[in-house]
Amino acid sequence: MTDQHLAVIVLAAGQGTRMRSAVPKVLHPLAGIPILGHVLATARELDPAHVVVVVRHERDAVAAAVAELLPEALIVDQDDIPGTGRAVEVAIGALPASFAGDVVIVSGDVPLLDAGTLSGLLAAHRAGEVAATLLSAIFDDATGYGRIVRSDAGSVDRIVEQKDATDVELEIREVNSGTYVFGLDPLRTSLGEVGTANAQGEKYLTDVIGLLRAAGSDITAVPVVESWLVGGINDRAQLSETARRLNAMIVRGWQLAGVTVRDPETTWIDLAVKIGEDVELLPGTMLIGPTVIERGAIIGPDTSLNACEVGENATVRRSDATLAVIGAGASVGPFSYLRPGAELGENGKIGTFVEVKNSKIGAGSKVPHLSYIGDTEIGVDTNIGAGAITANYDDLVKHRTKIGSHVHSGSHNVFVAPVTIGDGAKTGAGAVVRKDVPPGALAISVAPQRNMTGWVETNRSGTESAKAAAEADGSSGTA
Ligand code: UD1
Ligand code: CA
Repeated sequence: MTDQHLAVIVLAAGQGTRMRSAVPKVLHPLAGIPILGHVLATARELDPAHVVVVVRHERDAVAAAVAELLPEALIVDQDDIPGTGRAVEVAIGALPASFAGDVVIVSGDVPLLDAGTLSGLLAAHRAGEVAATLLSAIFDDATGYGRIVRSDAGSVDRIVEQKDATDVELEIREVNSGTYVFGLDPLRTSLGEVGTANAQGEKYLTDVIGLLRAAGSDITAVPVVESWLVGGINDRAQLSETARRLNAMIVRGWQLAGVTVRDPETTWIDLAVKIGEDVELLPGTMLIGPTVIERGAIIGPDTSLNACEVGENATVRRSDATLAVIGAGASVGPFSYLRPGAELGENGKIGTFVEVKNSKIGAGSKVPHLSYIGDTEIGVDTNIGAGAITANYDDLVKHRTKIGSHVHSGSHNVFVAPVTIGDGAKTGAGAVVRKDVPPGALAISVAPQRNMTGWVETNRSGTESAKAAAEADGSSGTA
């Protein structure tokens, strides 16, 4: 049930300079969704009355992503005053005047923090008479983080940022994770008193802690159980470490759900993927986007499937596919390239060095070797000879090729679209099929072969070829 006395503020206005990217930091993908998407999903799980997202850097791109990821979120623009304190100030200014209660603050760049940890923090806050409860972490290397300064008695006195800390304070290993619960009223009051007289000239949210304490309020800092939960993403090294950790959890989840994963280290599975029992994932497999793998299928090694559907007991080896549908029992690869709109029916085959785009290949039909099939429809139980090309493009428009059921095409055919091959038809080797072939017909388009006897001995006399020909002549005669 929605907690009417809870608001979650997500800070996402910062520049993310250390990513060195044209893409805003919080929009870099992690397991198939933006970093910020993970944070918004967690915020939603808390079921608060309001989620407020503060934006500024790359405002439009970030706001558009928020609108898509969590439509009910309130998007608020930070002004020219920099700092996390200012960000929170504009966020609470956007809450309806009628709202009263607690405010949870999280960073848009801390994606692994889970709702369970946050609701634990919220419960701890509500159980005590404190103005603020913050999530801390004990790090061996605390570089870059704000340090939690405690009194001799152990109570939290204030937070000092890395750049403002004394040498003694820099020794502190308990850090501010950037995750807090505040009562709305004390937060609003003390934010009003925060200045920008610090090393970065910013309005720090962390200064609120010292101000509240000085005014006589109590603050609690709860150390997080696993410090990686609060790891922020500031650069691409942290992005890949976070991605690896998340992927390990996703892979493990599927293993416990009955999926064999030979090598978790080289198997990457996005959050949106669905996998049936007894699926086997071989090393080097990437399952991207909303890919669905039905039970018993074998994927890999070295295979990427992006937004694909793979039917029961199908196999896909050493291949790359996007927006393709592979039927039950079908076989793909090694070395197939399936582009959007490729559909392979039950027990069909797309084989070695075959590219398929926007084409339907019917049940039991096979394109086993060295072919390009584009804008084509193939019926059932048809066999396409090695080296087939559907010439679908006349340099102006794409045309369709229709090949019926139970067709056998010869090796090295070119189907010049638009063209239709009837059911049960056959084509000869090397045919260039420019005209429709009626059902049951045999189409041949290459000129009859002509042998010019003695051509080599006449035109290339004295060569090794001529000598070899002369010798063969003596033994076998000529045609
Ligand atoms: C902040 C904390 C630090 C803590 C660390 C944990 C402050 C002053 N410091 O430092 O104590 O240890 O997080 O990760 O709060 N943001 C805005 N508007 C701004 C500036 C930042 O919305 O003007 C957002 C950023 O997009 C980011 C979050 O606030 O999501 C944190 O900002 P960042 O610059 O990464 O702060 P840190 O230096 O990491
Ligand atoms: Ca940060």
